[in-house]
Amino acid sequence: MIYLDSAATTLQKPPTVARAMARATSSMASPGRGGHKPAMLAAETAFACRQRAAELFGMRNPENVIFTLNATHALNLAIKSVVRPGDTVVVSGYEHNAVTRPLTAMGCQIRVARGPLFCPRELLMEFDRLMTEDVSCVICTHVSNVFGYVLPVEEVAALCRARNIPFILDASQSAGAFPLHMDEWGCAFIGMPGHKGLYGPQGTGLLLCGEGQSTEPLLEGGTGSLSLRQTMPDFLPDRLEPGTHNIPGIAGLLEGLQYVAAKKEQTILRHEQGLAAQAAQDLAGLPGITVYRSGETEHQAGVLSFVVKDMDCEEVGTRLGERGIAVRAGLHCAPYAHATVGTEATGTVRVSFSAFNTGSEVKIFAKTVEQIIKRR
Ligand code: ALA
Repeated sequence: MIYLDSAATTLQKPPTVARAMARATSSMASPGRGGHKPAMLAAETAFACRQRAAELFGMRNPENVIFTLNATHALNLAIKSVVRPGDTVVVSGYEHNAVTRPLTAMGCQIRVARGPLFCPRELLMEFDRLMTEDVSCVICTHVSNVFGYVLPVEEVAALCRARNIPFILDASQSAGAFPLHMDEWGCAFIGMPGHKGLYGPQGTGLLLCGEGQSTEPLLEGGTGSLSLRQTMPDFLPDRLEPGTHNIPGIAGLLEGLQYVAAKKEQTILRHEQGLAAQAAQDLAGLPGITVYRSGETEHQAGVLSFVVKDMDCEEVGTRLGERGIAVRAGLHCAPYAHATVGTEATGTVRVSFSAFNTGSEVKIFAKTVEQIIKRR
C-alpha cells in the first residue's frame, strides 16, 4: 500500500516507537503512584518525554508540557483556559473544527481573518485589522490541514505580543516539520498531536503551556499529589493530568520525538515539500484537474489538495483506495478552510506526506490518478 494520509495520522513510524511501547507495557506502571521500580520507570519515561519536547519546542520548563489524548484535547484545554463564553475571538479562515466547534459551543463571537490561499501578507493584514481591544484571544493554525498552506504564525504571534492578546497556536500539521519556539514567540498555548509529524502512536498529544499562563482543567481526579485537597493542584503538569497516564503511548512518543530531533525538522520538511511539489507537477497536466499549489515553495508544506472536474472527491478517493493508495477525500473537518477557498461544495482529494514517503510512490500515485480520470 502507498500511504499518503499522514495529515490524519502517520502510519509508518520509526521501529523504535513500537519497541518502546512494548517495553513500557511489560515493565512500567503509573508515574507518581508509588516508589517501586515499575512506577519509577514510568515517571522517568514521562519526564524524559516532557524534557525532549521542551528542548525541541524551545521551552525552558518541561513541567509545562502536558500529555493529552490528541490535538483536539490539547486545543480544548487551551481554549477553555483562556476564553470565556461569549468572548470575541479572532481565528484564521483555515481553522479546523477542533478550534471552531469549541468556540461555537461557548457562544463566542468568531471573527475570521480570511485571506486568499498562499497569500500570507493579506492574511496578516486581516489579523491586524480584526485584533481590536475587545478581542480576548487569537487562534491560528500553523499549516492548513486541507491545503498545506503555511500561515504567517510568527508574525501573528508578534501582533499578539504587541497588543497583549493571548495567542493559541494549532501545530497539528507543523509539529515535527517546522521549528516551534514556544518561549520566544510568547504563545499562551501550543497544541499538537503526537501521532502525526511526531511519529508517536494514536492516543497521544501535547499541550505546551506558556510560562505563568493560568489553566483550567477539563477533568478533575487523582494526580498522586496533594491527595488531602479536594481541588486540583495549581501547578503543572498535575493540574491538567488527572488519572493514569498512557505510558506506552508516552514511551512511543518519546521515541518519535527522538527520531525528529535526530533527523531535524528542516530535513523532514524539505523532503515532504519536495514530494508535494513533485505530485503537484505530475498532476498539473492531467485533463480537468485543479491542483491547489503555491508558486512559492516556502508557503506550502507536505500537503496537497486537488479536485477532478465532474468527479466526486469521495469517488476519486475510493478508487485510489481500491488501487492501494490511501488518501483522504471530503471536507477534512475544516469547513472554514473550504469556505475561504471556495471548495465547500466539492471538498477536495488530499494527499499528505511523511518522512517515509518516496518519489517513486508519488509517480505511481500520479499515474493512478491519470488512469482513474481516463476510465471515468
Ligand atoms: N485533522 C486530521 C486530518 O486533517 C484528522 O485528516
